[in-house]
Amino acid sequence: MTSTSLVIGGTSGIGLATAIRLAAAGDTVHIAARRTDRLAAVAAEHPELIGHSVDAGDRGALDALFAELGTVDRLIVTVASNAGMGPIAGLELTALRDAFDAKYWPTVTSIQAAIPHLKADGSITLIGAITGRMGMSETAGIGSLNAAVEGLVQPLATELAPIRVNAVSPGGVDTPWWDFVPAEVREQLFAQTAATLPVRHVATADEIAEAVVFAATSRNVTGTVIETDGGAHLGSVAA
Ligand SMILES: NC(=O)c1ccc[n+]([C@@H]2O[C@H](COP(=O)([O-])OP(=O)(O)OC[C@H]3O[C@@H](n4cnc5c(N)ncnc54)[C@H](OP(=O)(O)O)[C@@H]3O)[C@@H](O)[C@H]2O)c1
Repeated sequence: MTSTSLVIGGTSGIGLATAIRLAAAGDTVHIAARRTDRLAAVAAEHPELIGHSVDAGDRGALDALFAELGTVDRLIVTVASNAGMGPIAGLELTALRDAFDAKYWPTVTSIQAAIPHLKADGSITLIGAITGRMGMSETAGIGSLNAAVEGLVQPLATELAPIRVNAVSPGGVDTPWWDFVPAEVREQLFAQTAATLPVRHVATADEIAEAVVFAATSRNVTGTVIETDGGAHLGSVAA
């Protein structure tokens, strides 16, 4: 029987790449995000993906979506935030609260809304980040946010069993998440990063999606945070 996947955050970057991979593998794939122009653009390019305009921070909207979908085999949450970066001394607490509002609470709300609709052999896959695992200067805000997301994995993997719960933890990934950085600066930053990474390149969204699909579909994997960061956790390697 065909499996049903829901990718919340599926109109861009890692979520979109994951949705494309799951659909190619034969799943019926629903994608949810807020911006209707992005949903329309994705629908034009990927008619195999079924789009829904939903804010993952809105429990009522999520309940309506799950009521429409019925049962779901795989929930993947890739909602993003790039707020909360910078030295802790001057970090605006409103910016850090915004970061949790943009990523942590929508992730938790998505999980809560999904639970009654997930099949017993289904899965939940979240996205953390290397900032939650490494002592990178000036990432205490965004790092604690990603650690909080990754911290959901182990308790939920036992609490919700036999539903499997995992996360994927990337380093830098070339996605529209970086659009807040001017193109020229971004290019320089990626070139510098690539030169010091053991794998010598900045990850593509599809490379991260490969790990997400593994976590979402592999029947023996639960309570695991999969690192896919090009070796960034090893520290800088001389070019
Ligand atoms: N890119 C990186 O370098 C990187 C590195 C480490 C970790 N990550 C993590 O990987 C995940 C995916 O990031 P990405 O780079 O793929 O980001 P992205 O390209 O900016 O995509 C984010 C997606 O989430 C959707 N979204 C955001 N808030 C939402 C909400 N409240 N409700 C529904 N949909 C929402 C966006 O669409 P709408 O705005 O239209 O809603 C978009 O589809 C994030 O958790 C990010 O923190 C990224």
